[in-house]
Amino acid sequence: MRITVFDIQAMKESGQRIAMLTAYDHPSAALAERAEVPMLLVGDSLGMVVHGADTTLPVTLDDMIRHARAVVRGSSRALVVADLPFLTYATEGDAIASARRVMQEAGVQALKLEGGISIGPTVRRLTELGVPVMGHLGLTPQAQHTLGLRVQARQAEAARRLVEDALALQDAGAFALVLELVPAPLAAAVTQRLRIPVIGIGAGAGCDGQVQVWHDLLGLFPGKSPRHAKRYADIGSAIEEALRAYVGDVRSGAFPTAAQSSGMDPEELSRALGG
Ligand code: KIV
Repeated sequence: MRITVFDIQAMKESGQRIAMLTAYDHPSAALAERAEVPMLLVGDSLGMVVHGADTTLPVTLDDMIRHARAVVRGSSRALVVADLPFLTYATEGDAIASARRVMQEAGVQALKLEGGISIGPTVRRLTELGVPVMGHLGLTPQAQHTLGLRVQARQAEAARRLVEDALALQDAGAFALVLELVPAPLAAAVTQRLRIPVIGIGAGAGCDGQVQVWHDLLGLFPGKSPRHAKRYADIGSAIEEALRAYVGDVRSGAFPTAAQSSGMDPEELSRALGG
């Protein structure tokens, strides 16, 4: 049985912190499942970390559906949430059509939408129609050209608006909220005020849970990770080392050996070759 939005709510109520992680394909979902990650996000960050784009904006509904379907197939317990991509929920009609496709074709259990009060009616309508919605405030990467890629809501007026946005999303029926790159004391205050779970990324330890990007957590990119990320492993270096060993073995003839090859009856071979 999969974890439900009610289980996630119960985690907040019992003070159990929630670990959420992005996943984009079958093997990553299966590994996260073995590690008992309760909530997986098929984030539109896939445009950047999987497809090599500069922003999340080029991600399409078809991209999201293909990746989300693989994550759903790779997991059986985790609650799988998928992002609705850039401008696929600009009107209520668009949002319903997009939600129908991602829920039906990928089989995810919830969707994440970026935005505050202005998307409240959309969140309400989707929730009424049976779609659990996770909100996303603070740095919303789909608006990076208007917001910039920096910590949000540092000043009182912007912080007050963020609190209003968070309350509006909760009132509209959102089951949880992501806060990205928000000052820790503000995120902690929002977490205290909201009934629903608040999941932070670069928002400090006072949230009900944390979400991290797979590639940041596992060190899949060389060089520095974003400041808000903690690298739990250096898998990128391990992969590079393994690939170098493979290339070296192919060049030297050390791979393959008899152990990786199949034999053949010499008579059969001779008959085949006309010997
Ligand atoms: O797309 C994504 O991975 C996200 C997380 C960073 C919250 O939205």
